[in-house]
Amino acid sequence: MGYIGSHTAVQLLLSGYQVHIYDNLCNSNIDTLQRIKRIAGKDLGFTYGDIRDTQKLTAALKENSIEAVIHLAGLKAVGESSKKPIEYYSNNTQGSISLIQAMQAVHISTLVFSSSATVYGDPVYLPYDEAHPTFPTNPYGHNKLQIEQMLHDLAFSDKNWRIACLRYFNPVGAHESGLIGENPNGIPNNLMPVIGQVANGKLAQLSIFGNDYSTSDGTGKRDYIHVMDLADGHLMALNWLQENLGCHTFNLGSGSSFSVLELLRCFEKVSAKKIPYQIVARRPGDLSEYYAKVDKAEKILGWKTRRSLEDICTSSWNWIKNSKNN
Ligand code: UFG
Repeated sequence: MGYIGSHTAVQLLLSGYQVHIYDNLCNSNIDTLQRIKRIAGKDLGFTYGDIRDTQKLTAALKENSIEAVIHLAGLKAVGESSKKPIEYYSNNTQGSISLIQAMQAVHISTLVFSSSATVYGDPVYLPYDEAHPTFPTNPYGHNKLQIEQMLHDLAFSDKNWRIACLRYFNPVGAHESGLIGENPNGIPNNLMPVIGQVANGKLAQLSIFGNDYSTSDGTGKRDYIHVMDLADGHLMALNWLQENLGCHTFNLGSGSSFSVLELLRCFEKVSAKKIPYQIVARRPGDLSEYYAKVDKAEKILGWKTRRSLEDICTSSWNWIKNSKNN
């Protein structure tokens, strides 16, 4: 029930699915469960457990008559993955094997997997389409690609599987209620949570990692996607899998990119807050710019983003203001 899972659970409940969450709470908070219930006006189940505990996971799938799984149980900090690779291989890769074994034990064969645009690595061309070569450059990216490859092999070996690998671009924003949003443990690494902490006074300023990239204003450009659009993407993928077999990969992005300064200005505008910043050295491993080609998800799943950069900043600011009072 982390950042993406909580928003996805809301959209699933609102569209009539019954939801059961399995989580070890390593990067989430049990309070979120009540908040999901409050927003959706519906109940949902919860089991505390680790994805690598195959027995417990199998029992949870069976006892709750689960029919399909959305797998979001991944560690996700790129920098940390280089410092603690074995934790990442264990939780992400081994954890996914454990999940597949549990699903096989109770004959569940519908799976939506949370992958990442990080699998592409340095752009050979832009926008990245799903056929772009994959050259991940860190353990986190290696995990995502390994899991995707494993899922393709699985669907090839057993034609009953229905799998969607969703390659997210940069998820940001929050539910419009301000009740759920991104709440990283410790000092955040990602741009929007850092801006949020500057806005609410927890951090003095934003450090912008380089202004000498070959972009319009020299700062890095990314394809930011509203987490509610991303949640809708999971719902559409799950619906589509009801009618389709095999393992399929989709980019989930907006199809355009914004610079660090553009995001900062937009946030300043909607919040009426000044966000002080300093320009510092480039962050190792950062790319200049990338964004998604989104035609495949639009054509096949009937999904595309509906929310703007302004919606992203407004919802983030709403969440930040709200969480300060909690
Ligand atoms: N940035 C700053 N200062 C900060 C944080 C970020 O200038 O304090 C800049 C970065 O240099 C980059 C942009 O803001 O240009 C976005 O950086 P993020 O850390 O928010 O996101 P990344 O693009 O580095 O990575 C994100 C996720 C990964 C995922 C990837 C997929 O963190 O998990 O998108 O596209 F793999």
